[in-house]
Formats: sequence, structure tokens, C-alpha cells
Amino acid sequence: MRRPFIAGNWKMNTDSNSGPELVKGIAAGLTDIDSVDVAVIPPFVYIPAAVEAAASSKIAVGAQDMYFEDKGAFTGEISTAMLKDVGCSYVLCGHSERRHVIGETDELINKKVIAAISGGLLPILCVGELLEEREAGKTDEVNERQVKAGFAGLSADKAAAVTIAYEPVWAIGTGVTATPDQAQEVHAKIRKLVAELYDENLASQMRIQYGGSAKPGNAAELMSQPDIDGLLVGGASLKAEDFLGIINASA
Ligand code: 13P
Repeated sequence: MRRPFIAGNWKMNTDSNSGPELVKGIAAGLTDIDSVDVAVIPPFVYIPAAVEAAASSKIAVGAQDMYFEDKGAFTGEISTAMLKDVGCSYVLCGHSERRHVIGETDELINKKVIAAISGGLLPILCVGELLEEREAGKTDEVNERQVKAGFAGLSADKAAAVTIAYEPVWAIGTGVTATPDQAQEVHAKIRKLVAELYDENLASQMRIQYGGSAKPGNAAELMSQPDIDGLLVGGASLKAEDFLGIINASA
């Protein structure tokens, strides 16, 4: 069985006070919940404080991005080893804001996924179509391309480290959530694709999160879908009460 995995992507939010406070608030509410994996994903500079605040709790910490090189003259970039060094276990690769605001390509994202796994981090590979792509009937084509490119060159044993996050771009930060049926349809197709790329066994074990305006009020219905194994939460992960509501609804 796939264990539910709820992750909070803080994006470019919080500060040195509110970040640790948020982690402590989540940790306090998690004491009775054992059936869900939980992670917070702060901005780089607040990762060490989040790791400290999460100590002796069930909360893992992730990073929102990384660079694929080990070290050297890459001004502004952060390596896998640096993230491991400060206590990260997960890293987002190819979040839609990095694809569409910063301009990351499938090829770059693939290099990050490969480097993350080689360095011992668990990548969360984000995929998802834009509104115009959905309206043009290209949803499957876009997600298939992004998943295939993300896994390019990865053996099955390495691919097993990946979580996929399906985040339809039109549902991110808009308050418009994909309906459970819409999300399930894409998740099932992504799982089928993973089975084609690797095998049924790997596909049946791979966790696929949904992201896009997830909140306490829609989490249970989304999580009740057979191929939705977790949620990647933006806005609603910035309040402990809301994030805990989502976790509880997924437990
Ligand atoms: P929202 O939950 O704010 O829509 O953000 C989703 C997201 O992009 C998580 O990575």
C-alpha cells in the first residue's frame, strides 16, 4: 500500500520567526497521526531553522529547488550535498513556477532529478498542464512529455526514489481545484505511463501527489481517489491549522 504523503510548499513565504513557529505548530498537532508522511518545504535560507524546529517530530524537511552540479562556480545555486548537509530529505524538481516563471526546461529538470537521487535526496517531480494546454486538449501530451523527460536515464531502482506531483497550473493559487475526477483521470494515466516506462510493480508503489488549491475542505475527497496518494499544498500549508486539517483528512 502507498502511504499518504502530504507536503507543504511554502514557496517564497515565511521568515525566521514564522517558519519555525509554523513547524512547531504542525508538530504539536501531529502527535497522534502515524499513518501519513509529512514534509515542509521552506525557502532555502529557512531550512536549517525548520530542521531544528522539526527535530524529534515526524516532520521531514525538503527544498524547493537545487542545482545538478556538485560544487564550483555556479553563483546563487545550491547543491544536493548542501541540502543533505542541513538536514533535507526531499527536493522539488520542476515546480511549475520554476518551469513557467523561471524558464526551466525538461532537460534541466531531468538533470536535477538524477543528481538529487545520486546525492541521496528524494525528488518530488512536479508536472502539470497550463490552462491553454488543457483547453487545447493537450493535457495528456504535456504530462506524458514531462514525466518521460523527468525519468529519462533513470534505472528502475533509482526511479523508485521519486514522488510525482501532478499540479495542473490552472489550479495553483487560483482557488480553482481540479475536481477529484479530473485529478484521478490524470493520476491514473501517469501511473500507467510509469508502468510502461518501468513495470507494474514500480508503478503500483510510486506515490503521486495532487497539488493545486488543496485545502482542508477538499482534501478527503481528493485523497479518496484510488490514484491520489498525497497532496502538495501551497497556500494552505502556511497555517498550521489548515495544514493539519489536510493531514487529518488524509489519515
Ligand atoms: P496552492 O495550494 O497555493 O494552489 O499551491 C499549489 C502548489 O503549487 C504546491 O506546490
